[in-house]
Amino acid sequence: MTQTAAPIGVFDSGVGGLTVLRALRAALPDADFVYLGDTARLPYGTKSAATVARYSLQCAAALRARGIGALVVACNTASASALDALRAAHPDLPVEGVVEPGAAAAVAASRTRRIAVIATEGTIAGGAYQRAIHAHAADARVVARACPLFVALAEEGWTDGAIAEAIARRYVEDLFDGPQPPDTLVLGCTHFPVLAGAIAAVLPPAVRIVDSAATTAAAVAARIGAHRGAPGAAPVSGGGTVRWLATDGAARFAHIGSRFLGARIAADEVEIVDL
Ligand code: DGL
Repeated sequence: MTQTAAPIGVFDSGVGGLTVLRALRAALPDADFVYLGDTARLPYGTKSAATVARYSLQCAAALRARGIGALVVACNTASASALDALRAAHPDLPVEGVVEPGAAAAVAASRTRRIAVIATEGTIAGGAYQRAIHAHAADARVVARACPLFVALAEEGWTDGAIAEAIARRYVEDLFDGPQPPDTLVLGCTHFPVLAGAIAAVLPPAVRIVDSAATTAAAVAARIGAHRGAPGAAPVSGGGTVRWLATDGAARFAHIGSRFLGARIAADEVEIVDL
């Protein structure tokens, strides 16, 4: 990514991308951000790749109109289905997705090259994680499973306790059966990091959990930070501000989003936009 004083645009189908924004803000505390949650059309994970690509291009255009200097696709489903289209439509704009950094981190974390991926139906069906992992390690064995109920659980705030663990057990436990189980689990959906504790509780203890939020933030920060660290480099940006945009439900976005962000979002600061 290039050095820029313009804000970094971040979008997701809703509030899940706030786990990525949280990690981005920790990595780049003086950068400004514009976050767009396409709450009117969530979930993306059950929709066709063509529809997700169309929605993603509209999100990017709305952020572009607000003067962003870089774009982070903070949604695994959109990264899996729309990254090429976004880069083609905005060749002058640095565009980072969450799948590639997550896959790279999984390969780095795994000692046995047996890796499990959990994500939405769309992300798993499109095979983007499987391809990205194999691009780093052709001999990797990847098992993948769609876990759509996790999205609803995360939004409901049922992120720990008996119900969350029972659903986690139903979804992931058998992925780790067998003589040579995976040693690494990729959380391939931006909603899943808030469920990491419940998921970890049903996994064999040695399994490493890779969170694409943290790995994407590290990738973005490394690119921007490299420019910042260059001799004579100007600061990336100013005041560490976030401008909030959503396509529906300012109060719900603020209420649920605050949990994902780990900081309060005020409903009256959320601008409702029509894409
Ligand atoms: N943000 C989506 C993702 O990371 C999950 C929610 C949805 O299905 O829209 O895949």
